[in-house]
Amino acid sequence: MDYFRRTKIAAILKNAERASENVIVLGWIRSRSDKPNLVFLKVNDGSSLDSLQIVIENPDRFPDIVRARLGASVRLEGKLVPVPQREHKIELHPTSLKILGDCPPDYPVQNKRHTFEFLREIAHLRPRTNTFGVMNRFRSRIAFAIHKYFQERGFYYIDTPMITAADCEGAGQQFRVTTLDLKNLPFIDGEIDFDKDFFGCETFLTVSGQLEGETMATALGDIYTFGPTFRAENSNTSRHLSEFWMIEPEMAFCELEENMQLAGEFLKYLFQYALEQCPEEMKFFNSRISSDRIATLESVIQTDFARCSYTEAIEILKKAGRKFEYPVEWGSDLQAEHERFLCEEHFKAPVMVYNYPRRIKAFYMRVNDDEKTVAAVDILVPQIGEIIGGSQREERFDVLQDQIRTFGLNEKVLDWYLDLRRFGTVPHAGFGLGFARVLMYMSGLGNIRDVVPYPRVPRWAKF
Ligand code: 4AD
Ligand code: MG
Repeated sequence: MDYFRRTKIAAILKNAERASENVIVLGWIRSRSDKPNLVFLKVNDGSSLDSLQIVIENPDRFPDIVRARLGASVRLEGKLVPVPQREHKIELHPTSLKILGDCPPDYPVQNKRHTFEFLREIAHLRPRTNTFGVMNRFRSRIAFAIHKYFQERGFYYIDTPMITAADCEGAGQQFRVTTLDLKNLPFIDGEIDFDKDFFGCETFLTVSGQLEGETMATALGDIYTFGPTFRAENSNTSRHLSEFWMIEPEMAFCELEENMQLAGEFLKYLFQYALEQCPEEMKFFNSRISSDRIATLESVIQTDFARCSYTEAIEILKKAGRKFEYPVEWGSDLQAEHERFLCEEHFKAPVMVYNYPRRIKAFYMRVNDDEKTVAAVDILVPQIGEIIGGSQREERFDVLQDQIRTFGLNEKVLDWYLDLRRFGTVPHAGFGLGFARVLMYMSGLGNIRDVVPYPRVPRWAKF
């Protein structure tokens, strides 16, 4: 093949004023139109949103021209001709055209508007559409920006295990990992005997890498994870996935206030990066998906994040003069409708809500002096709700042990975690950013299933 010899279309379009003899282009035909003695093709190779215009005079010269249909893969060789007066600026006049793979007319990705619902059914082909091409390139660039942000600040990238015996968030929403024969389970004293299971104990897919992240932060100082997490939560919403990637920085010698500061700075960095380094994608989102995207990101970059304590949030909601489906009461968790009211109607901007009631948050969060709240923070954004959840961790051995018992967790499973408080304990904090949620916010796409290549949600694990 001409893998190393070909020129990517993005590079050609970037230097549209440059004529050249003999470039090789490898890609897929996105459209064809026929005129007398003339064929126009648009060819895309995945390197950019825009396709390359191919102009074929005397098409009969090319035996393969009859096979040059929408979706076919093609090798072209020829001359680049700048056409500054035309919208496409540069075109290829081929001397050779070879169809590598035919595409019959029943190709599902036709040149028309497909609904997002239809495209989810053909998730293996949707990367070939404009929207998903843009989304996937954007996703890759933002993943890089995430690594860049932390690497430049002295954080170490850690990968934490996907198989675990612990339930970090304590919500009991885990997928089980087992090699036991489900039709013939071993029992002991009326209970399943997990000693006979692969790992000799009950194991699950992790909901978060945080606990192992803490072990690293209390050795390396600043670390971050960026990996898959799994939640068997039966939520069929536009914001929930059963499998999603999370970015979890963890910092030793860090308290809630500093944690919030870092989280805000990190989000602003990502937004700035998108505006500066992904102009093609941001322009596409702004014109095709959500017309206020660029203005929204710009305004978040320029203003401080609004902040309010959970207790203040409850007061705001009570005074809202609004009938909510779920009652507003100190002590109960904020529902999506409450979160949306706070950022969409009250603050009209993203907001950091901190110091939540102890009972509704995870066991590892640091208990505040009032003993009723914990040093937690959620960052809420309009349309989506929570995109970041974080906290200062409980560093006091006795208090943590007490929390583990109150939450009814298995102390034996968490013994190693308690060791961090036994040996040289230190105040530390961190947060988790849902990668798909932040991509929804940045792109304006309304359904989380459209910002990840292959969504896993209840009753859907195809592809
Ligand atoms: O608030 P969560 O559950 O926090 C944690 O897991 C902590 N261990 C993080 C930490 O402090 N290191 O989840 C963090 C974020 C949420 O704010 C949300 O953005 C995302 O993960 N998230 C989901 N994204 C998609 N689908 C789901 N079902 C999600 N659940 C959480
Ligand atoms: Mg949360």
